[in-house]
Amino acid sequence: KDLGHAIACARPCIGNSPFVVMLPDVLIDDAACDLSKDNLTEMINNFRHSHKSQVMVEAVPDNQVSNYGIVDCAGVVLNQGKATPMLAMVEKPTLKDAPSNQSVVGRYVLSHAIWDILESTPVGAGGEVQLTDAIATLMEFETVEAYSMVGKSHDCGSKVGYMLANMEYGLRHCEVKQAMTDFIISQRHSLVNAEP
Ligand code: G1P
Repeated sequence: KDLGHAIACARPCIGNSPFVVMLPDVLIDDAACDLSKDNLTEMINNFRHSHKSQVMVEAVPDNQVSNYGIVDCAGVVLNQGKATPMLAMVEKPTLKDAPSNQSVVGRYVLSHAIWDILESTPVGAGGEVQLTDAIATLMEFETVEAYSMVGKSHDCGSKVGYMLANMEYGLRHCEVKQAMTDFIISQRHSLVNAEP
């Protein structure tokens, strides 16, 4: 029954402890960033310090808002690498109903209180048990923060996101970048002549 149910199934392995969720179809690309610690390490440190659950977010264009969980931070401008308390979170809203364009990126540090909530979260959007709904319930009891990621994400759960990630990583990888560059250049005529 999707993400919320899958996580609930892991409870016997983890026990009644806080834990991290990493969605493996989202790649976090910090190659161009000057980070002393990576994003997830920052989130874990924030949780250790404040005991506030953390949800990684990144701004998306309007036409992608309905593909993601979207957070409401009361209009506060989010600073990259910093965490801000959330007011609400909604799964795949229409643009009209979206509280912002800050999307959930697939990394979470969650308090143990989410376990019981997950087990009683009903099926939501798309007929799935949504982690987003469980976190929205958690917010009724505890502060949850949106952590604004540094770098960029690749959504490899979409076909185009998967292909673009391969291109971006490939074009900077010493082993394959020359072959990829040669191929792209060899295709330039069909690219120029492509129908809009
Ligand atoms: C899941 C989450 C969503 C999040 C997304 C990130 O959706 O439910 O909140 O924004 O991952 O990729 P899915 O991609 O499984 O539809």
